[in-house]
Order: sequence, then structure tokens, then C-alpha cells
Amino acid sequence: MRKPIVVVGSINLDLVAAAERVPLPGETLTGRTFSTFHGGKGANQAVAVGRLGYPVSMVGKVGDDSFGPELKTALRKAGVDVRAVGTAKGSSGVALINIGDDGQNNIVVIPGANGRLLPKDIMRSSALLRKAGMLLTQLEIPLITVETIAVFAHKNKIPLMLDPAPARELPMGLLKCLTWITPNESETRILCGLNSNEPVTPGTAERCADLLLARGPKNVVIKMGSQGAFLATAAGTREMIPPFAVKAVDSTAAGDAFNAGFAVSLLSGAAPVQAARYASAVAAISVTRMGAQPSMPSARDVNRFLKSH
Ligand code: RIB
Repeated sequence: MRKPIVVVGSINLDLVAAAERVPLPGETLTGRTFSTFHGGKGANQAVAVGRLGYPVSMVGKVGDDSFGPELKTALRKAGVDVRAVGTAKGSSGVALINIGDDGQNNIVVIPGANGRLLPKDIMRSSALLRKAGMLLTQLEIPLITVETIAVFAHKNKIPLMLDPAPARELPMGLLKCLTWITPNESETRILCGLNSNEPVTPGTAERCADLLLARGPKNVVIKMGSQGAFLATAAGTREMIPPFAVKAVDSTAAGDAFNAGFAVSLLSGAAPVQAARYASAVAAISVTRMGAQPSMPSARDVNRFLKSH
């Protein structure tokens, strides 16, 4: 029997303004469209796993506002078990997202209820977490909660994948408990102390992956957008996974799509290089569609895509 993936993380409503390009600091732009989508890095990853047909549960919190029930329904519709999604007083998480015609984005997240997901909630869900084949988490919930998950995963020998987004400095104790850490380029710059405008080339990615491995995580994937992904494992793999060429319309949640695809593929028995290729396909499809959760493909979409690329 397949052990479920359990995602512990954020659930947001995304307010998306699409314009010719993302605005510069201090600039006012006239946009093209405004849309709302279901999002949040945790919820996006859970929805993506569910769409890929893998058993998945979510631990998180929505607010007691009108968005809360709607956000839970979206998860349920994608096949996510939401019994461990609680309700906190106040607003649900909200993300303000600008996207440009080239698919690039920038995001401001207001945590709302996600900020109330506390260590006691993790302990309350311990029976569910113990049954997981893998735990996925991100940094849109309090760091103390992420640290509690890490200690739990380590003690119970459950693989843990951390998407270090939004990036911040991470304590050594946490890094040592990670089976996978999966920063994107900007998160890699922050975690590895690079300049904010320094390009992350394959060579830089290899150096940064080695630096991260030396701090404790067993394995690293650096997600490099249109350049592909760099994979570095404890077993010694150092490999650049090439990207799929697609026309991007919205890159929001591409990283979430990657993590979900990667976890599903690894738990289905693929080796890391094959799993990263599968994950790249999931992410590539997601950038061709608008919105976070609506962009997540089904297993059938991914298989068809892989056959034709
Ligand atoms: O990773 C994309 C997500 O980041 C968006 O859905 C938004 O909610 C923010 O959390």
C-alpha cells in the first residue's frame, strides 16, 4: 500500500494582477487583468500531488473569513484529505502577485491563519504524520513549526523535503534533519550568501549545492527555471537536469509543481535523476497555464507531455 505524502504548510488566496511586465520599485503600471486563484505553497504542493493521483493529506490553517471554506473545498476537490486543516480566528493567508507577459512574477504574502499553525498543531496531527511516506513543507508557516516537523521527521525516520521559500537564514539543527532541500535561484542566493544580482549558472549551482550539503541536508535540488534544475545527492550524483522548452504564461507555483512531482516520482520508485525529469515536466506544464492550483497537471497530462518531448 502507498504511504501518503503529507504536506504541512500554507494555504492562500492569490490576488493576481497581470501587466506587460512586473513593476519596478516606485512605479505605477496600468495592468491588463485581475484574477483570484487558490494558492499557498503548501496547498499548491498538496493539490499537485492529488492531481498526480498520489494519496495526500494536508496539515494547515485557514481563517474564519469567507475564503476559508472555499480554500478547503479547492483542496478537497483535488483529492487532498483536509481533516487536519483547522480554522483560526482572523483572515486566511493572502498573496498579492504581479505577473508580466514573460510569465515572471513577484509576490507579497500576508500569512494570516498560516501564522497560527503552531507546534501544538503538529503534535495534534502526529498520528497522521507518522503514517507519511514523505513530508513536504515550506517557509510560509512559523519557523518554530517547521523545526518541530523536522525533529519529528528525524525521530520517526520519515523523509522530509523543505522548499526554503520565502528564503531566510536556517538553523543548523533544522538543516541536519532534511532529506531534501529545494531552493530556487533567488533562495539559493540568500542561503549561500551570493549577491542579489549574481547569475546562478550550472557552475554556481554545483558550488552552492556542495555548500548546502556541507550544512546537513542529505540531498539538494536547485530549481533554476528556464535553465533546468541542478541535482546533488548524498550518493554523489551531480547532474544538471535540462529544462523542457515551453511558452510560459505564468510561472507562479512552478516550484511547487516541481516539488510535488519530485516527491510523487521518488515515492513511486524512481531514481533521483528520473524523478527530477518527471518533476521538470510537471513544472513545465504548470507554467503554460494561469494561476497556482489551476495550473497543476494530472498524471495523464504529464505522461502525454513526456511522450511528446
Ligand atoms: O509558490 C507560489 C505561491 O506563493 C502562490 O500561490 C502564493 O500563494 C505564494 O504563497
